[in-house]
Amino acid sequence: MTVVIDPDFNPVPSRALSHDVRAVAEPSASAQAIAVAVPAEGDVPAIVGLDRAALAAVGFTGKAGSTTLLPRQDGPVLVLVGLGDTKGTLTGAQLRDAAATLVRAASELGTLEFDARGLSDVDARTIGQVVTEGAVLARYRYDALRSAPTTVPLTGFTIVTPAEDVAETQAGIDRGLILARAMDTARDLANTPPRHLSAEKLGDLAVALGPELGLEVEVFDRAQLIELGCGGLLGVNAGSVEEPRMIKLSYRPENATGHLALVGKGIMYDSGGISLKPSNAMHQAMKFDMMGAGSVFSAMSVLRELGATTAVTGWMMCTDNMPSGSATKLGDVLTIRGGTTVEVKNTDAEGRLVLADGLVLATEEANRPDVIVDIATLTGAAMAALGTRTAALLANNDEVAEQLQAAADATDENTWRLPLDHRYREQLKSNVADLSNIGGEYAGTTTAALFLNEFVDDIPWGHLDIAGTMKADADDLWRSAGSTGFGARLLAEFAVGFRAPAK
Ligand code: BES
Ligand code: MN
Ligand code: ZN
Repeated sequence: MTVVIDPDFNPVPSRALSHDVRAVAEPSASAQAIAVAVPAEGDVPAIVGLDRAALAAVGFTGKAGSTTLLPRQDGPVLVLVGLGDTKGTLTGAQLRDAAATLVRAASELGTLEFDARGLSDVDARTIGQVVTEGAVLARYRYDALRSAPTTVPLTGFTIVTPAEDVAETQAGIDRGLILARAMDTARDLANTPPRHLSAEKLGDLAVALGPELGLEVEVFDRAQLIELGCGGLLGVNAGSVEEPRMIKLSYRPENATGHLALVGKGIMYDSGGISLKPSNAMHQAMKFDMMGAGSVFSAMSVLRELGATTAVTGWMMCTDNMPSGSATKLGDVLTIRGGTTVEVKNTDAEGRLVLADGLVLATEEANRPDVIVDIATLTGAAMAALGTRTAALLANNDEVAEQLQAAADATDENTWRLPLDHRYREQLKSNVADLSNIGGEYAGTTTAALFLNEFVDDIPWGHLDIAGTMKADADDLWRSAGSTGFGARLLAEFAVGFRAPAK
């Protein structure tokens, strides 16, 4: 899939890497190196042929993220990869990290062998999936605009398993390839410079790709958004020379088992508007402010391949947020779809304004969704509270929170639930309108979520604030420098495992 486009929307020749990952029962005779994952405690896998003391003598303790080369007289060199402290039970996340560590350590090689025999605790299918995800994601680089690529595809990555596990492992590999591709798509979309990927171009791209992805795509332009009364999206767009776009994606499997709505913040570039951001590193990262919409698109791009049985409707709320003579001013009042009025006290709190229109539209669907989940790079406060590795999760429904948490655990896109504390609701009062678009000085993630909560009616709803997790400053295990693609695998797993909560 080509998601890289130049300023005139001519597709740039795709640099999407094509990876070949297979499960095999025997190490290949010609392998130059075989990777073996070694925990920080307990038995050393038999193939290593050495005990802990011997490994410690060369400085290898099995620490997570560490590697050591072990030449042998009678076979290919072994690459020992530390799994870290498994506390007796190896997790999929540790194994994903180990595969990423291997692929980064051998960054020039396309042919690698990973020995998964003797790994207990994790089933064969999960081994195939997480090793593949770790390997493929660690090979990602946004190279589309460079003169020459800086990374090589995995042309022959094999996972050695016991003979009876080959089929299950391969099934996991195939799933891992799909999920990693979704996350890489989200990365490509976010890493693409804002001039290259305007809201209009993203709409064109979704229309072009929809049919091959099994998605129905409808794009709403400015005139149609005026017709719909989407005053939030239009108000944020007011300062821009680029048109806004609302992109609606529909995935409709036969005999759907439920209906899920996903709403994504798609600020193609967030300058702050009249409340202009300072020109610092954070401002430089604001092309990533469309990652909510990007992760909705990317997750939905693989639903058919993953065999998701629930219907899913995606709402991508896209515009940039710019200052200009026509921009929304502080004190202006916007009317959200459905009639709620909002006083804009800070034009940099724009994400909640565009999401509000999307949430209302989601509640209005004839086939009312069982659950609405929104995802947004919404508040610096989420980053202050939870850092760059954990996203904030808020919900008006415990079952929704639990299902999101379970998906996050499976994909290692960590989330932590923060309270939707209604006592802070009064901070959103305005002297002139129904709501103010900012709360007080503290609990910024909660007050932003309370604002969104006003627009979901009584539908079970979950909210993911991915401001902290949207980017990596340097390569780090399966996260590659730039956009992390955070949310794409999480939402895909969530949709696949989705069960409508009990009424
Ligand atoms: N896109 C930003 C949030 C953000 C900050 C994302 C840092 C990633 C990293 C959002 O639109 C924003 O500017 N939020 C303001 C809200 C405030 C004005 C109430 C913030 O967090 O400062
Ligand atoms: Mn902002
Ligand atoms: Zn923003």
